[in-house]
Amino acid sequence: MKVLLLNGSPDSNGCINEGLKVMSKIFEKENIDYEIIQMGKNPIAGCIGCANCVKTGECFRHDLANEVAKKLSEANGIVIGSPVYYASANGSLLSLLDRVFYQSKNLANKVGASIVSCRRGGATATFDSLNKYFAISNMPIASSNYWNMIHGSKKEDIYKDEEGIQTLEILAKNMIFLMKSIELGKEKGLEPTYDKKIKTNYIR
Ligand SMILES: Cc1cc2nc3c(=O)[nH]c(=O)nc-3n(C[C@H](O)[C@H](O)[C@H](O)COP(=O)(O)O)c2cc1C
Repeated sequence: MKVLLLNGSPDSNGCINEGLKVMSKIFEKENIDYEIIQMGKNPIAGCIGCANCVKTGECFRHDLANEVAKKLSEANGIVIGSPVYYASANGSLLSLLDRVFYQSKNLANKVGASIVSCRRGGATATFDSLNKYFAISNMPIASSNYWNMIHGSKKEDIYKDEEGIQTLEILAKNMIFLMKSIELGKEKGLEPTYDKKIKTNYIR
């Protein structure tokens, strides 16, 4: 059983990374494999809508998006973390996620969770935008006892936000329970089957 944790901040030693480490401690304690992926500071191109990935199964830009997509296809769950930038997620992260989710086929019943970090405001809007990637992918969304947000400007700050830290710890526990329950369900043959997707639009 493996969880990916994607740090969508260019700062690999900032608040989001620290929040992912808080969650990782719980995964470690419960013997769940995990890997923290750093998005880093390199530019990440957005999706150009060429649909090449629909034909070939991967983006023609052979960069981090393809790596994340491959690792996600083998994982049981993913935590996506983002700093709040102008009340939304980091633009580079959104570019990456558009390309990961557009090319990924079998995400059904992988557990998704998102965490966000801000100095002061815009956390819930950012949280909403990240969860939408899961909600369109047949992915159950793990939750906690508050929206998954932490506060600070540098990594030490997040520990002053005790409720935020507890929110992340509970999120990790709930995620483990969901992933284990899904595996048990699969063993018992309870996994749903899906009909071919119907696609309609409103162009007359
Ligand atoms: C370009 C930019 C825009 C930001 N916009 C907001 C904002 O809208 N609201 C807020 O509270 N903090 C904002 N911040 C602060 C970060 O969200 C905050 O410091 C966050 O905890 C950083 O996480 P990190 O250390 O993982 O990068 C912004 C920071 C940057 C660089």
